[in-house]
Amino acid sequence: MCKIITITGQKGGSGKSTVAVNLSACLALFEKKTLLIDCDPQASSTSWSGIKDSASKYSLPDVLAAKCSIEQAVQPTQLNYLEVIPSEFSLMIWAAKLSAMPENQKILKLLLDEIREAYEFIIIDSPSSYHFLSLAALTASQSLIITLSPDAEPEKEFSLMARAMKYIRNNHQIKLTIARIIGNRFDSRDHMINAWESDFSYRLKDLSFKLTIPDDRTIDQARKNGMPVVLHDFKSPSARAYLSVARELTAL
Ligand SMILES: Nc1ncnc2c1ncn2[C@@H]1O[C@H](COP(=O)(O)OP(=O)(O)O)[C@@H](O)[C@H]1O
Ligand SMILES: [Mg+2]
Repeated sequence: MCKIITITGQKGGSGKSTVAVNLSACLALFEKKTLLIDCDPQASSTSWSGIKDSASKYSLPDVLAAKCSIEQAVQPTQLNYLEVIPSEFSLMIWAAKLSAMPENQKILKLLLDEIREAYEFIIIDSPSSYHFLSLAALTASQSLIITLSPDAEPEKEFSLMARAMKYIRNNHQIKLTIARIIGNRFDSRDHMINAWESDFSYRLKDLSFKLTIPDDRTIDQARKNGMPVVLHDFKSPSARAYLSVARELTAL
């Protein structure tokens, strides 16, 4: 059965796109058929997932504009088990049009119903704030992975996320769960918990992956080369951490 997971987190720059790309690539290396959907007009995960040149160059906004089917927007990557639905800036324009009707927040879910059976994992990279695109991503998902970087305010973040989850449950009758927290730019889970030194942060420990993703300049080198860090340098600290996190995710 396909697991549909949105990578979320309130702070811009917390590493959502980085997590989406690198986790998807590691799942694919473990031979899990994975689809990465870039649901952000910034298109960061599109630009660094190394999409091969292909005859069809449709992207998510083309699907929303009914210029193509969702299958036609699926692009191959360097990895056999990983495909991507790319984004581009016009996604912002379609989001603005569709946001006029709250019922449209279900659009991605309805589109994914057509293709989900072809995949073991669908990973959605979403924008930071709670606007139409992130609500559409959450509505299409069964669970979330929340990215927390050292500048996060976890208490505030969880309170907003709880309200968004309640909104989706009440308006679309969809029950979302939090799959895991991923600590980004931390040396260890204890380092992450101690960074905030609040009672609340201790309760996050059980929800966190065993390994955190360390601060690692290899990440930026990989992004500049348009490839996931496991393909750029599989011995780097971040590549090893992503492999461990992906392994843990496949066992959930
Ligand atoms: N663990 C890390 N170590 C070093 N740089 C990182 C790490 N995670 C993310 N980055 C860098 O931080 C920047 C923002 O990450 P990004 O994934 O685009 O954030 P978001 O999608 O949440 O806005 C990117 O330049 C990315 O390469
Ligand atoms: Mg991003």
